[in-house]
Amino acid sequence: MNEMAFPAAATPRVTTWCNFLHDFPDYYEESTLAPDHFADVAGVNVLPQQPLSLMKQSNDTTRADVAIPPEVQAIYATYRPTLLRRAHRLEERLGTSARIYYKYEGANVSGSHKLNSAIAQAWYYKKAGVKHLITGTGAGQWGTALAYACKQFGLRCTVFMVGISYRQKPQRPTIVELFGGEIHESPSALTKTGRDAMKRDPDRIGSLAVATGEAIEMAREMKDSARFAVGSGETCVLLHQTVIGNEAVRQMADLGDFPDYVVACMGAGSNFAGVGMPFLRAAKAMGRKTELVAAEPVACPKLTRGDYLFDINDFSGTTPVTRMYTLGSRFLAPGIHAGGLRYHGTSAFLSALYAHKGFSARAIAQSDALGAGILFADCEGIIPAPESAHAIAAAVEIAREHRTAPARTILINISGHGLFDLAGYEEAKRGVLSSDAPDEAMIAASLGAARAKNEDLARALAADVGT
Ligand SMILES: Cc1ncc(COP(=O)(O)O)c(C=O)c1O
Repeated sequence: MNEMAFPAAATPRVTTWCNFLHDFPDYYEESTLAPDHFADVAGVNVLPQQPLSLMKQSNDTTRADVAIPPEVQAIYATYRPTLLRRAHRLEERLGTSARIYYKYEGANVSGSHKLNSAIAQAWYYKKAGVKHLITGTGAGQWGTALAYACKQFGLRCTVFMVGISYRQKPQRPTIVELFGGEIHESPSALTKTGRDAMKRDPDRIGSLAVATGEAIEMAREMKDSARFAVGSGETCVLLHQTVIGNEAVRQMADLGDFPDYVVACMGAGSNFAGVGMPFLRAAKAMGRKTELVAAEPVACPKLTRGDYLFDINDFSGTTPVTRMYTLGSRFLAPGIHAGGLRYHGTSAFLSALYAHKGFSARAIAQSDALGAGILFADCEGIIPAPESAHAIAAAVEIAREHRTAPARTILINISGHGLFDLAGYEEAKRGVLSSDAPDEAMIAASLGAARAKNEDLARALAADVGT
């Protein structure tokens, strides 16, 4: 086996995305079950926001691989292939026999993997005749990625950014504006959703649910020329992110190794599926095993403590109901620094995969995540995003469980950089992080409400069958 990592450019360019729906058609079927009896709560009469091309990508079980359009490939080529390197110094520091590799998605203008889908979506929307994309963003990675992608294809871009993050991370709004995007602190006075939210939230702390609600409302009102674009969770977004795993499979082969564990953090699931699904396919083809490991925060433990239920995707109930691992849509996670992991649910496809034991999950405390981020920065010279630091902490746990032979191979996806998250690292260094313990009463109430709704659904279905 080669000990040193190859330079990134040694790996030939990836020209296809890995359509995991083709590999798991049963889980696709399961993830699209439509609960008619929920029609009263959400997703009713939502103007279809996606072009047919993207809808097809979210529902295609026929093709194993989806060609990446040449225009998208051309922009990918400005920052891909991304680095895959062995973390020798981290291994030494941990005193483990495990070989640890990392794939780094933070070295692009948006600072995260979000750009992989932003570019693809901007291209498909443009092809469908859309002139303006509108979105909601939490900590700003998705918003900056979409602004840059829109600029590349001559689209207008409007971003609603969660108020507290807007003020804490002024660099993000600057990047959006640098690429000609418009950005608004959410809640804003521009939409009814925002005005209503401001009455409850006069300090304009905001939440992703409200920012998303504002973006959907504006897109709906603008009708034909504008559309709402989503940064994670949708199957087509997960598909676009498989460029990460397709590249990594080849890079690991170049290095003469194959991971026993592929570890990524879990928000709604795009970087996790992106790096992981191509390895599940490769493992099957090679007749070997690989375990995908999702790292979620203790603050928002939807996989390790949630339930597999039909639920709504946002608090305001503007998006359709899906079956997913969830803590209930009324759950609000404590304000941890990994804002991208505070989402109460998980993508429908990944939820089906998890329900059938297709991967494992670990809940990571914020202090352990940021501690692992500091260790990683010290050893490898990259300050990871707090989200990505959860994956590092989970990998460190696995490496410590395998200190001795047989040596295991662990691949970590570092989904973004943490250069705008230094306040969190500083708090971690000073030992003054606020508690990340979720509100137990809120979990009980939120999950209880979601379970009760599902029990109603089951009763209604049973009554239908009986009639
Ligand atoms: C750097 C980073 N990693 C991970 C995530 C989580 O998203 P996903 O689960 O879609 O990868 C986010 C979301 O904002 C993010 O910004």
